[in-house]
Formats: sequence, structure tokens, C-alpha cells
Amino acid sequence: MLKDFFSVPVYIHNFNYDTNLLSKSCFQYMTDNREVIEKEAGEDIKSIYDLQLTWVKDEIKVNTEGFEEPKYSISNSYKLDNLDVWNNLLSDFEKHGNEFVKNFYNKKLKISEFWINVSRKNNFVQPHVHPKSVFTGVYYIQSSENCGDLRMENPFATQLQMTGALEPPYTKYNTSYWKFPPIENRLYLFHSWLRHSVEVNYSDVPRLSLSFNMVEENVVYNMHERGFTHKKEPGQENIK
Ligand SMILES: [Fe+2]
Repeated sequence: MLKDFFSVPVYIHNFNYDTNLLSKSCFQYMTDNREVIEKEAGEDIKSIYDLQLTWVKDEIKVNTEGFEEPKYSISNSYKLDNLDVWNNLLSDFEKHGNEFVKNFYNKKLKISEFWINVSRKNNFVQPHVHPKSVFTGVYYIQSSENCGDLRMENPFATQLQMTGALEPPYTKYNTSYWKFPPIENRLYLFHSWLRHSVEVNYSDVPRLSLSFNMVEENVVYNMHERGFTHKKEPGQENIK
């Protein structure tokens, strides 16, 4: 008899949203705000490899360097569009997040921030976690073949490697990571402490996803106080 005691859950839900409409809305937003975005980013949108637009309340942050702390800010433009679909989508994400949380805490969660990831050819995302957040979600708006799977790392990978257990045949117990395909209209929700990464996008088509963090409902969230794990910490400086 084998029983699981400490497992790592990932919540999966497939929506029926019009992803073409969402995709158009994202690119339309970038086109409409191109001048502002390029001015803030200091780069031509076309040449920006990985573009990340983060919204918190009435602020949008443009980040052109992956998941580091956003460096550029643009005020007074916080909605992608006036399309109701965005509000419906975010409210659906919150509903699912609050279903998921029932398994762990007697808390109500809200979305603290959300961001759009435009990942072009050859882009990838290094392993990271999302500090100061309870759950993290990702929803795929546009994907194509070989555009890069999401990888969730096995929190016990180090221990398993020590014992030589990370060898085939792989099962859910002895693999160092698990791959999740970026299927359009699919939402993945997971603990923000779960280290994850995104594989290289080998497709010519940009992979478009909406990500978000969820915090406890009564928490006042301040994005400027957020820290990302791969931001340089003391001791991470290069040795000279
Ligand atoms: Fe992430």
C-alpha cells in the first residue's frame, strides 16, 4: 500500500474565452500605447525580446528584462481595453483561486497584480518563485507548438538527487520537474513558493500569457516593496 502525504498541487482549469479577442486586445494595447511604452522602456517594441506589462491598481509597469523587478513606470493607464472580457477573466481567476485556497487555509484571496507576458522566439524564463504572494496563476492567451512548456520544480529534487533517485523510469516521485503545456485558454494555479521556469520558445509566434499573484483579501499590497528572488542579494555579486 502506498499513500501520499505531502503532495504538491497544481490547479488546472480550461476556460472558453475568445483567446483571439484577448490576443488582439493585448497587441492593440501595445500598439495604442507604443510611444509611451517605448519611451519608458528606451527600446523599440519590436526589438524587445521579452515584454512584461504589470498592472497594480492604477499603475502599469513595463519590464523588458524578464521577471526582474519592473524598472519603468507609466501612470494612468491600467486597463488593457474597455472590453468587459478582461474584468470577467480576472474575476473568474479570483473565483478559482478561492476554490483552490479552500484546500489549505480559511482565507479569502484577491488578485494583487497581474501582468501580460509577451515571449518571443528564443525567450525563456529562469527558475523563480513569487515572493510575498500566496498563489500564482498563469493563463495562456496565445501559444503554438514548441513555444515552451511551463516547468514546476520538484521541491524535493535536491534530496532525491543526493540519494541517486532522479533516474529513469521517471514517476511523479522521482522526477526533478513536471512539464505543463501552454494550452490556450488554460489556467494553472499553484503555490507562489513553488519554483518554476519556462522553456525556450522555439516558435516564430510570440507566446502570450496573463499571469497574476493572489494575496489575502485584507492585505494592502504595494508593488514597490516586492522583491523577486533573482534580484541580486548581498553575496550574489561577482567575485573580483
Ligand atoms: Fe513565475
